[in-house]
Amino acid sequence: MRIESAGPLKGKIVLPGDKSISHRAAMFAAMASGQSRIENYAASEDCASTLGCLSALGVKIGRDGSAVTIDGVGGNGFIRPSSDLDCGNSGTTMRLMAGILAGAGVECVMTGDASLSKRPMRRVVDPLTEMGAGIETEDGHAPLQIKGGKKLTGIEYKLPVASAQVKSCVLLAGLNAEGTTTVIESAPTRDHTERMLEQFGVSVGTETDGATRRISVNGGSLLKGASLRVPGDISAAAFFLVAGAIIEGSQLYLPFVGLNPTRAAVLDVLRQAGAKMSITEHDTGKGEPVGDIEIEGSGTAGLTKARIVIEGDVVANLVDEVPILAILGTQLEGGLEVRDAAELRVKETDRIDAVVKNLRKMGADIEEREDGFLVRRSLLQGAEVDSFGDHRIAMAFAVAGLVAEGVTEIHDAECAAVSFPDFFEQLAAVRTQ
Ligand code: S3P
Repeated sequence: MRIESAGPLKGKIVLPGDKSISHRAAMFAAMASGQSRIENYAASEDCASTLGCLSALGVKIGRDGSAVTIDGVGGNGFIRPSSDLDCGNSGTTMRLMAGILAGAGVECVMTGDASLSKRPMRRVVDPLTEMGAGIETEDGHAPLQIKGGKKLTGIEYKLPVASAQVKSCVLLAGLNAEGTTTVIESAPTRDHTERMLEQFGVSVGTETDGATRRISVNGGSLLKGASLRVPGDISAAAFFLVAGAIIEGSQLYLPFVGLNPTRAAVLDVLRQAGAKMSITEHDTGKGEPVGDIEIEGSGTAGLTKARIVIEGDVVANLVDEVPILAILGTQLEGGLEVRDAAELRVKETDRIDAVVKNLRKMGADIEEREDGFLVRRSLLQGAEVDSFGDHRIAMAFAVAGLVAEGVTEIHDAECAAVSFPDFFEQLAAVRTQ
């Protein structure tokens, strides 16, 4: 993909449905009794992997434009699949489905692509084994082999890493276990599972003590089909919000963006950076919070002179936005520093390494750290960069290309479709030059 430097970006961005919420909506609908309708289901390849797995497990799925209807089979109604369940590039599919299938005692094998097969799976296998599941890995990695017919017992589990995928895996297994299952997190991670289980009629106990949260579900809880509309993906919005803020004269309108506080820390960083942004919230009752965002380009001169430091508990609330925030950092007079983000090294690629390598190729001043980086204000030069097969790296460097001098070429940029299939078309549509 060739990206030339751009003038102001103007217009409206239609975001894909939120990836994290879409995965959960499809899985919970499958585990429920009755039919569910999910509007604005993410068009992403990752969310298609979840539907593919569910359909191989005997779940009937209908499509109607961007809406998906699912006939639930109940927590124990999955059939043994006739072949391996292919999770593609999707960590959320593999880790959450592992909890559901271990809980339901379905014999199966879960596989993934080359990237997913390198990602750590012991983090879900350990708690599931403690609950009594029969689940094996290849040296801590996919394929995951789940043995059928095991009955699980509820546990109390303190998360060793701040991960919503691990939290969700254990809670979902807990729905089919004997007794109560409690997950303790010492830093809040995205809470879509907790919110959505309530929407499907399951009561979730939450106790908060400072930053620590204890989240509990009871074994034998039954899900009831529900209708919901998936908000636009704030992680997808982040690419256009940063592009809009750093290119002077831009005016972008992003309607219907998910504003869940456990996901929205990127907005706080943009505010801290001095971005001109206004948000109109919708009234969504008990559902996920949603709003329309307008952003106007400040350019470097209109943004903060101070350094932005991202560290500690907040990292979990913008973990997917760090690559694009690195690009923001190149345009800030004080630069931007990220600490406590070692988890980025085990995402779809090692995102710290990918950001550092690509930004250096573009002439940026960036120091690599084990758990993050420090990027200083830099005049970027067009260069040949690599997505490393990671959708968020591909899109972050498309935005870098907009503010770089000359032409930026991104190799293997089509992986953007993992979360945002028409990203490049929408980018082309809002360019004015
Ligand atoms: C996700 C949780 C995060 C995030 C991923 C989606 C989820 O991963 O990076 O894109 O839907 O629960 P971790 O749980 O590994 O932090």
